[in-house]
This record gives sequence, structure tokens and C-alpha cells, in this order.
Amino acid sequence: MNRLLPLGITALAILALAMLFLLIGPALQIAPIQPPEELQPYSKAELRGRAHYVGLGCVYCHSQQPRESSQAPDQARGWGRASTPADYVYDQPHQLGTMRTGPDLFNIGQRQPSRAWQLTHLYAPRAVQPDSIMPAFPFLFETKDSADADDVVVDVPEAFRPNGEVVVARQAALDLVDYLLSLDHSYPAAHEELRDNGYRRDRDTP
Ligand code: HEC
Repeated sequence: MNRLLPLGITALAILALAMLFLLIGPALQIAPIQPPEELQPYSKAELRGRAHYVGLGCVYCHSQQPRESSQAPDQARGWGRASTPADYVYDQPHQLGTMRTGPDLFNIGQRQPSRAWQLTHLYAPRAVQPDSIMPAFPFLFETKDSADADDVVVDVPEAFRPNGEVVVARQAALDLVDYLLSLDHSYPAAHEELRDNGYRRDRDTP
């Protein structure tokens, strides 16, 4: 019985240490980080699109975190410079991802800025990438006999259109593409902020 007190104190001390190193430390480390000037907050449409990105589980196949060239050849793959904490200030919840069944999308807005391409690819990935294993998202679209005046018609090859109907983007598809096109972090990394926080970037930058 008289060992309960030391046991309790030890347990609390372990908990407090864990909180210090895993919660308080990192929180203090990222607290002073300011958004880079070039990074814009998401618009309403982009935020709606982002919610679709989260809900549809794009993160299970796509990362959003190019790494240092000392860690992986991500820059050689054309995915852009290594990301820094400041690049994510508006990302809640972040979509860093751990799987790369498909390419990293951190700079997809810069790499593939064509709205038309993005819409076709979401409707039928194999219409633009014949050997793609990405699932199609046809429920983000509608098919009709003919398009109305304010419809956004998607450029889909005949073979991928049911009964030759026209494919029209629903709002969800338009918002999702708005979000994808907003993913452009091609501005320079925030060096000062990185140095202040003790990060080192010797490889990627002169
Ligand atoms: C099962 C895995 C998987 C899922 C889930 C998935 N993708 Fe993909 N994605 C891929 C693969 C593989 C590729 C590469 C082939 C291609 O371009 O289709 C790809 C390519 C892409 C590209 C083109 C990238 C480039 O560099 O050209 C975009 C944009 C994209 N996906 C967006 C999305 C979005 C948005 C979602 C969620 C709605 C999603 N993906 C869900 C596997 C996936």
C-alpha cells in the first residue's frame, strides 16, 4: 500500500515528460511560424474541394510532402522543393499522407494547371493515362443527352462516355479541381523561419 504514492508520482512524471516532449515542445517550436507571403489562404470553393479531397480519401494514395533530396529523389521526380512547416499553416487537417501509390500532389496546381485535364482525369483517369490504376470518380459528374447553357462540359473521349452522352461536372468536381489547382508551393522556402527553429536545409538550397 505504501508503494502507491511513489508509483503514482512516477507515472505522473512519465506522463508529464511525454507531454513536454511530444506536445508542448513541438507546439512551442511551430508557434512562431508565419505564413509565407506568397501563400494565400484557401477560398471558399477551395475549402469545399479540400473537404471532398479528405472525404474521398485521396490521401490514401497521394502524399503532399516532397522531401529533401538527401532523403528521396522527390525533386528529380518533379514534385518541387522540400516542404517546410510554414507551407502548411492553412492546412487543417493536414494531408501530408504516408502512401505514394500516385504522385505527390503538393505542387500539382503548378505541374498540371489545366482545369480541363483535371476534370477529365477525375472522371476517367485512363482516358488521359492509359495505364493508370487510380480509381475513377464518376459520381462527381453527371451524364446527359445534351448540355445546358451553364453546364461545364468535360472533354471525355467517346470510348469513355456512356452511350455517347455528354459529361458535365457537378459542383463537387469543380470545387475539388479548384483545390487541386491551388496546390502550388513553388515559391522559395521560408529560410529565416527554418533557421530560427533549428531546422537545417543543407542539401536543397545553396
Ligand atoms: C488507389 C489509389 C488512388 C486514389 C485513391 C487516388 N489516386 Fe490520384 N493517382 C493515383 C495514381 C496511381 C496516379 C498516377 C496515374 C495517373 O495519372 O492517373 C494518380 C494521379 C493523380 C493525379 C495526377 C498527378 C500527376 O502528377 O500528374 C491527380 C491530380 C490525382 N491523382 C488526384 C487525385 C484525387 C483528387 C483523388 C481523390 C479524389 C485521387 N487522386 C485518389 C492513385 C490514386
